[in-house]
Amino acid sequence: MAPIDPHSFTDSTHPLTTHISLSLYFDFSTSTISSSALLTLCAPHTGDLLLDTRSLTIKSVIDPINNTPLPFCLSSDVDPIKGQPLTVSLNNNSKILITFVTSPSSSALQWLTPPQTFNKKFPFVYTQCQSIHARSIFPCQDTPASRVRYNAKLNIPHQLSAVMSARHVERRAPLAGGDSSFACDESLWCAEGRVVEEFTMEQPIPPYLFAFAVGEIGFREVGPRTKVFAESVPAVLDAAAKEFAGTEDMIRVGEKLFGDYDWERFDLLVLPPSFPYGGMENPRMVFLTPTVIKGDASGAQVVAHELAHSWTGNLITNKTNDHFWLNEGFTTYAERRIVEAVQGEDIAALNIGIGWKGLVDEMERFKDNVEFTKLLTNQEGVDPDDVYSQVPYEKGFQFLWRIERQIGRPAFDEFLKKYIAAFKFQSIDTYMFLDFLKVNVPGIEKEIDLKIWTEGTGIPFDAMEPVSNIYKKIVSLANEFKQGRMPSEEEVANWHGQEWELYLENLPKSVEASQVTALDSRYRLSESKDYEVKVAFLQLAIASRCSEYYNIVEKTLKEVGRMKYLRPLYTALVQGNVKKEEEKIFAQRVFSEARETYHPIAQGVVESILSKHL
Ligand code: BES
Ligand code: ZN
Repeated sequence: MAPIDPHSFTDSTHPLTTHISLSLYFDFSTSTISSSALLTLCAPHTGDLLLDTRSLTIKSVIDPINNTPLPFCLSSDVDPIKGQPLTVSLNNNSKILITFVTSPSSSALQWLTPPQTFNKKFPFVYTQCQSIHARSIFPCQDTPASRVRYNAKLNIPHQLSAVMSARHVERRAPLAGGDSSFACDESLWCAEGRVVEEFTMEQPIPPYLFAFAVGEIGFREVGPRTKVFAESVPAVLDAAAKEFAGTEDMIRVGEKLFGDYDWERFDLLVLPPSFPYGGMENPRMVFLTPTVIKGDASGAQVVAHELAHSWTGNLITNKTNDHFWLNEGFTTYAERRIVEAVQGEDIAALNIGIGWKGLVDEMERFKDNVEFTKLLTNQEGVDPDDVYSQVPYEKGFQFLWRIERQIGRPAFDEFLKKYIAAFKFQSIDTYMFLDFLKVNVPGIEKEIDLKIWTEGTGIPFDAMEPVSNIYKKIVSLANEFKQGRMPSEEEVANWHGQEWELYLENLPKSVEASQVTALDSRYRLSESKDYEVKVAFLQLAIASRCSEYYNIVEKTLKEVGRMKYLRPLYTALVQGNVKKEEEKIFAQRVFSEARETYHPIAQGVVESILSKHL
């Protein structure tokens, strides 16, 4: 008996699930889902089987073949990270039917009331399962080492529609008695005013890629395999369609670099502003924050990133979160290759430069916890949401870029294609990657210290900043600010969001308050529509103790729930050696007022930032 993943109760001696059939009855009045899950194992099993759950109420567990109850026990011990194991006793069974209800505080789900939506007429609910939240929607072996196919029936109010990271089969009236299992009362399931949306996922995916959204959702077609979905507001849909018009070109670049696009559709879903990430690579239906819609087609970078996951992450998946860099490092590398092809080398270099600064800053953040400056980490007893950082992205990128420099781009491109073809639809670890690398690039270990790169702490000496004139120019302008020189109108004439972002990130952490206001009165950064720029500026303003910006800080913290913005702003408010009593009180008040509008994952992350500094 041994767990196969530090974040799951799944046992190495138990058969893995190969298929899940879900019936989900959405009750918006209680923010719960009454559900059934039919799990099929890869082999019959006798003895205990451990499943992951978090805040689920289990109603029954039966053997669906003989329709007989199966003994089960939901542990009363709640592990703060992993949740509660559900133990089912099997006697040569390979199918298990579980009925259960989710909790209104399910960590994967955000339930929005009508006033929290754009149109204010109907409620909305959506998922975020990565890294370990699928278990708060249905019992499963919630480890990316396991890959499952699934189908799902979503019973929802007829005014709403559902989308999933799966193929849409049909929208229909509920069939009385026609569904193999009833998640709840048959009279409820078939009640008037309800419809059923059916989906199927025929490709095996890790549980963290399970995703749905239910609400008043509309779409626009933007390419032969791409629709963009969003809350059904014409202005939002039009802006999204414009922003993502170049998606098909990016898919083609991806196919050329990494091999066929295997997921058939590449649809996009723009979520409400509380979506906790920039993007989430849910297969066939990427989830996006609305903050990427800036009106200048710059959302392309996030789309390039989530698209790149179609190969690195979704086809080849990290076996556990210890190997998360295999997902994000490869994807950051692949994203930049796509960006370079569609937007040019300069933009790609800016992104590499922003990433470099991010990596350097993370070394400071983890100076007392150097484990998380490694690529291959040990996350035993660690909540992945607490140690989410740029390290797997940017150190992973740097490692692959280093290999590219060593063997040359043509050879590296060939290697990448071969790697993807060899491991597609598999979950792998760092050692499998390194073995494959050594076999396919003979002698590489003599040129690059693979152990230092994957198991060492800090930034290896042979990592590198981008070589680009525009990058160098911006970094040197940022250094000149220390001597009190601001860039001239002429120097910033062609700057877009990314140039400003790079500039601001390279300024000292704090400066004279008068310098902050001078910079802002000249370039209006606090009013930028680009949140990357606005937040980078506000971070500087807070660290420089310019309290006149706190009303904008408050407004920002209340209008978006993307953790990339919440983390640095709340951290800047409460962290530091100097006395910050007023800032701490301010941060707590804003959080208590904004809390309800954040996704549960973001609530947890902000709570942990505030509690560390009180
Ligand atoms: N898969 C991640 C988001 C994620 C990571 C969710 C870990 C939960 C746990 C996604 O692909 C991502 O990296 N998003 C970035 C986009 C950026 C790098 C362009 C984000 O949200 O900022
Ligand atoms: Zn990613």
